[in-house]
Amino acid sequence: MSALAGQHILIGITGGIAAYKIPELIRRLKDEGAQVRVILTKGGEAFVTPMTLQAVSGEEVHSELLDTQAEAGMGHIQLAKWADIVMIAPASANTLAKLAHGFADDLLSTVCLATAAPLLLAPAMNQQMWQHPAVKANMQRLSEQGVKAIGPESGSQACGDVGAGRMSEPHQIKTFIIEQLQDSVSKPLAGVRLTITAGPTREAIDPVRYISNHSSGKMGFALAQSAAKLGAEVTLIAGPVDLQTPTGVKRLDVESAQEMLEAALANPSDIFIGCAAVADYRVANIAEHKIKKNAQSGAPQLELIENPDILKTIAEQNPAPMCVGFAAETRDVETYAIDKLKRKKLALIIANDVSNSDIGFNSDNNAAVVLSADERVVFEQQSKTSLAHQLAHYIANHFHQNFRR
Ligand SMILES: Cc1cc2nc3c(=O)[nH]c(=O)nc-3n(C[C@H](O)[C@H](O)[C@H](O)COP(=O)(O)O)c2cc1C
Repeated sequence: MSALAGQHILIGITGGIAAYKIPELIRRLKDEGAQVRVILTKGGEAFVTPMTLQAVSGEEVHSELLDTQAEAGMGHIQLAKWADIVMIAPASANTLAKLAHGFADDLLSTVCLATAAPLLLAPAMNQQMWQHPAVKANMQRLSEQGVKAIGPESGSQACGDVGAGRMSEPHQIKTFIIEQLQDSVSKPLAGVRLTITAGPTREAIDPVRYISNHSSGKMGFALAQSAAKLGAEVTLIAGPVDLQTPTGVKRLDVESAQEMLEAALANPSDIFIGCAAVADYRVANIAEHKIKKNAQSGAPQLELIENPDILKTIAEQNPAPMCVGFAAETRDVETYAIDKLKRKKLALIIANDVSNSDIGFNSDNNAAVVLSADERVVFEQQSKTSLAHQLAHYIANHFHQNFRR
């Protein structure tokens, strides 16, 4: 499988003559299974049309920062989070200056500040411009910020000059992107089977009503995506949630705790992560027909019985996978988490405080404390995507140190 398969590559095209080569680059990236989105600067629009880029990328081309239509006005943040890597080709002298100094006055420069993805550049300009001390200083600043660049190459230029300033060729840029992806995303979970549950469960009362909870599934889905990016063969067992299936992940949709357990047992793994908010109880006798309001007999009494404990059941299998639990609590978070860690014989427990609405069930952010028999590690508040990335690495390390058989 190509290193580009399933990767999200955001291409920024600025106002240089070499922009005409970018449709070719996009086609090569798409041929290897990458998903490509494009940001075109106003300068870039003079050299290559949005129509051509849309046709080759299969995606709408983005140009406007102040666009009320784009994702309810937050399109720049969506694009910044979506990207696994940002490649600006060609990178004009003007855009290099903006990036070196942290400007955010158009969509491309704003996304570059807002993304956690590695930023790559393919500078291209007249040889005299490339030699200018201001351009040299800007490249130096960018390099100090960790930005990587390919080229420019030497040769004859569109303006008739000869010298350094030609953009590297699309096949060279593609290879450069693959190398950077391989560097930034090692695959410590390659060949490891990882099953993860996510979202709430629904416990039926009658054919139209149920007991459930506020879990959005976002944390579990983000973790499934991060684990897949680290090379794991991921099975995601999802309760009822309205979320897109992460790339490269096998998804099984379930409703009740009972169904979730059956799916978990049917998908043995090396690592099991219980991220779902599973209902502790279900209704003993689910009514066959809708329960009607009845003034005489008053409010119905629901008899509840205990649901199976999915994590505990999986941890008791022989052989058992490395089990990771989540403890979403509203008070005494770590005390409850340590109790759960010991009682269920888990390898790790990820504790988080859901009483704080900034990092709670439906939020896009989270913070966590990971506890094991001999370690306590704090992960500060950040986006669920970024936290998932860090947790996936932590889980992978723990697995290799303690469980790899
Ligand atoms: C015909 C033509 C070709 C140009 N080629 C380049 C180029 O290769 N590199 C560059 O840095 N600027 C080039 N420029 C200048 C940029 O288009 C200009 O600086 C613009 O403001 C860049 O805006 P942007 O960085 O937002 O895309 C060229 C301008 C023209 C008119």
